[in-house]
Amino acid sequence: MSEHNNQDAQHQGEKPVKRREMSRRQFLSYTLGGATAFMGAGMLVPMVRFAVDPVLQPKSKADWVKVVETGQITNEPKSFKFKVHQVDGWFENDAELEAWISKDKDGNLFALNPTCKHLGCTVNWNANPEYKDQYFCPCHGAHYTVDGKNLAVAPAPLDQYDLKVENGFVYVGQLGPNKRVK
Ligand code: FES
Repeated sequence: MSEHNNQDAQHQGEKPVKRREMSRRQFLSYTLGGATAFMGAGMLVPMVRFAVDPVLQPKSKADWVKVVETGQITNEPKSFKFKVHQVDGWFENDAELEAWISKDKDGNLFALNPTCKHLGCTVNWNANPEYKDQYFCPCHGAHYTVDGKNLAVAPAPLDQYDLKVENGFVYVGQLGPNKRVK
């Protein structure tokens, strides 16, 4: 018997192959489902972006804020209040901040933030007779030198504002770690 006849015999023993065809119902449900998902994603993406976009934006550096005339600054630290416009995500407000500004023996001006580095209470200059010429925190007794160096309780020096003098006025900017002391 030839090879061709053998193959015919094998094919005759097999079941006929069924072709799987998509019904009209399946076709419609796949098409409509796909189109709905596509349109849904098209609406959802802008909504999600709208909601989270401000959170993802890098926070801009604080602008300089004019605080006081330089003539008012002495070697004795003085407290000055100033307002900054803050934007955090969708939340905007004008926060009132405080800086203790003084002049060192070389005439350099510097501004410290009065937030205690222990647990965040507010320090005051010369507020405790036991710690003369120091910043003192009433909450747990932390005290700091005139440069903001932590002497007890607090684990770090008081933070320092960037400061510049322009046209006879003191401006403060970004708040950061104390650069005068370690
Ligand atoms: S918060 Fe200032 S000493 Fe504790």
